[in-house]
This record gives sequence, C-alpha cells and structure tokens, in this order.
Amino acid sequence: MLIDKHKLIKANYEAGCICKGIKLGKIMGAINNGARSFKKISEMTGIGNGSCKSKRCGKKVRELLG
Ligand code: FES
Repeated sequence: MLIDKHKLIKANYEAGCICKGIKLGKIMGAINNGARSFKKISEMTGIGNGSCKSKRCGKKVRELLG
C-alpha cells in the first residue's frame, strides 16, 4: 500500500505520537518504505515507545495499515 504524496505532505504536520513528537508523516513514510506491522513501524520510527506504550498511537497506526 503506497500513501499518496499529498496525504503524506499534510501528515507531516499532524501528530502521530504526541509524547515523542513523531509526526504522522513519518509513520506513513515507514509504510511507504515497506513496514507492514506496528512492530516494524515502531522499530523504524520510535512510535509506541513513549509514555502511552501504544495505547494512544497504536490505533492510528493500525488504521493506516488497514
Ligand atoms: S503516543 Fe507516543 S508512544 Fe503512543
């Protein structure tokens, strides 16, 4: 699944992980670069390693993965 360029640009301003300041665009970039699981996206971006431990951001990432 590739994410469209315009959505990616907009996502660079939207929060993916608010506790570590990781933008949604970084998550989408990881998906565009082949990440297909939350674990892989977490390894590539650091999301899920903040204070929420994926309780808050996990849902967003899983929605992006479809
Ligand atoms: S929102 Fe930061 S680790 Fe989940």
